[in-house]
Amino acid sequence: MAVNNVKGTHDVIGEEASAFNYIENLLKQICELFAYNEVRPPVMEYSELFVRGVGEGSDIVRKEMYTFLDKAERSVTLRPEFTAGIMRLIIQNKLLATNELPYKAYYCGPVFRYERPQLGRYRQFNQFGVEAVGNNSPEVDVEAIVLAYTILSSLNLDNVKIAINTLGDDESRNAYKEALKAYFAKHLDKMCPDCHSRYELNPLRILDCKVPEDQEIVKGAPRMKDYLSEAAKNRFNRVLSLLDDLNIPYQVDDTLVRGLDYYAETVFEFHYVSKTGNDYGAIGAGGHYDKLVKELGGPDAAGVGFSFGVERLYSVLKDDGLLPQGLDNPIEIYVMPIGDKAKALAMSVSANLRLSGYRVDMCYEDVKLANMFKRAERKGAQFAIIIGEDEVNKEEVVIKNLKTTEQKSCPLDKLVCAISEEMGDECCDGNCSCHHKE
Ligand code: HAM
Repeated sequence: MAVNNVKGTHDVIGEEASAFNYIENLLKQICELFAYNEVRPPVMEYSELFVRGVGEGSDIVRKEMYTFLDKAERSVTLRPEFTAGIMRLIIQNKLLATNELPYKAYYCGPVFRYERPQLGRYRQFNQFGVEAVGNNSPEVDVEAIVLAYTILSSLNLDNVKIAINTLGDDESRNAYKEALKAYFAKHLDKMCPDCHSRYELNPLRILDCKVPEDQEIVKGAPRMKDYLSEAAKNRFNRVLSLLDDLNIPYQVDDTLVRGLDYYAETVFEFHYVSKTGNDYGAIGAGGHYDKLVKELGGPDAAGVGFSFGVERLYSVLKDDGLLPQGLDNPIEIYVMPIGDKAKALAMSVSANLRLSGYRVDMCYEDVKLANMFKRAERKGAQFAIIIGEDEVNKEEVVIKNLKTTEQKSCPLDKLVCAISEEMGDECCDGNCSCHHKE
């Protein structure tokens, strides 16, 4: 019996793989414009990092981590998110002491969460994100949102809704948590088991409960905005007024609390429902954190960051026809040898053309010429290069334009120049004797 992929994982192939490349390359370029540097942390970390970083009260730590003992019986976890690992990387490599602050990093790769698989929700998925660490000012929060907005605009996702909220400083959050506890204590017996543990570990998380009956109770809960300290209010107002100055559209959502425990002050999510009506959940999310670096053994430093789900970006781009044409990179030239001698020549012809930057494939099988032409067409080639015994003896090839069906013989040493000319490209090196340079 064949072995299938693990439940909740998926194979990225064909057009989807090309689209992932397109998305990731675009995001990288934009991050570089914003002076972020790429970092590549390992996929696994000691479990303690996430327990302390993401928080014992989070759903991720309570029930979604892929945790196992390695052969030396150390508890190791496949990262369920990047932020904690990036903090570990920054602390361990002393990057806050050796760089201008904020230290700005971007990252991309797979993350693992044992969640119930459904539309837009996988157990292995890819995140692309950034963190800016070591500067507490609201301007850095805003720059992160501007970066995310620039990315979404560059992907032509114009209909994104940015939801933003503040979780305030410690003082505000503690007062709010007390108020929530007092409110939910009266309703807890009617609420789901998850909300019982949320009540103990982090009552803010109850606001995110998806159980419809619990959501009704949540509607009557106290609001964060009524518990904000003056300092937290001022900081949030500064963030909002900077966003206004920059014409970044947003909606304040005072029920937005985020599912990871490290957040403080500004939090935000990006939502996009595709024109076909598919709602994949948030396509990206993030926020400010002020205790995380210290909690993980580093200096007292605040940070801000966000992550996009690459699968979700791909899904909305595909649904709304926003992926550029030709991402699957069809080949340009198909080399068709007839006989063994011709095959050897075809291999060196292909190698030379590839060195000149052309996407080339060749036929390795002894099939009829008509069959080779069909293969060239299926592969989307613009030109066929035909090499028979005659051509081998005369040290030439036949170039056939598959659109116009025109064909001509070409000496081997002029092939790259002839193809460059056909393609309308610059000649190979300018020193050759091809006629179009004369
Ligand atoms: P998060 O909201 O847990 O935040 O995940 C960020 C994004 O990852 C989500 O908005 C979504 O697009 C995608 N995502 C999450 N779970 C799944 C899933 N099961 N399948 C597919 N895509 C998914 C974080 O991870 C934080 N570390 C973000 C952050 C960075 N905060 C500060 N810095």
